Amino acid sequence: MISLEAPGIFKLGPYGPYKNAVWLFCHEGEAAVVEMPPYNKGRDRQPWRDVGRALKKFDLTLKYALISHAHLDHCQTLMDFRKFFPKTTFVGHRSQAESGLVRRLASSRWSNPAEVFDHVFEGDIQMLHLGREPLYVLHCPKHSQSDQFVIFRGTAMTGDWFLGDLKDCNALVHPGEKIRSVNRVQEWLRRLDYQVSRAFSGHGDCLYHQVDFHRLLEKSKIDHDLVPA
Ligand SMILES: [Fe+2]
Ligand SMILES: [Fe+2]
Repeated sequence: MISLEAPGIFKLGPYGPYKNAVWLFCHEGEAAVVEMPPYNKGRDRQPWRDVGRALKKFDLTLKYALISHAHLDHCQTLMDFRKFFPKTTFVGHRSQAESGLVRRLASSRWSNPAEVFDHVFEGDIQMLHLGREPLYVLHCPKHSQSDQFVIFRGTAMTGDWFLGDLKDCNALVHPGEKIRSVNRVQEWLRRLDYQVSRAFSGHGDCLYHQVDFHRLLEKSKIDHDLVPA
């Protein structure tokens, strides 16, 4: 199933046991895919083939491929996408390229696991373009050390972050680092003078339209370990 969720943003899926979405961001004939999840063999369609069909239908070239973070439900078919889209530039933060899971996935199917991404960025942010429209990739560990937001046309794709005053589903990142990540996102949006008005989860099960993103991020700074039960 494919649906247009926001200007230039399609959602495909859900796929696999964790019901993950695949996102297709597009502008002026160019596209980026975000998330490469597992699928139920024999029941689901293969997600990379669905992306291929959508590209053909909308006459798009797949310029970039990204994941929100290196957890299996978001990247298990990374190597299938690599094989199917040999001309696409796969982009990831250093924390994704060096994650044990990505290396394991790559080592069985790729001669050099260190080269599974064509472009690896080190700092906070990487600016890419689809047509003349910027696409920002922002490293922001909160749910995992390899979290990155993908921000495009006023929408932030926020992976598995729990936004607002909800307690995260794990404790993989230190509370202080989580708050630094929230501050980092706010600071970059301020510096870029960029308005985010929509926030979509990686799974596609939580879609905030017309949201006050700054306020949502402010509420996300709560340290649940310090809040009395
Ligand atoms: Fe996750
Ligand atoms: Fe997930």
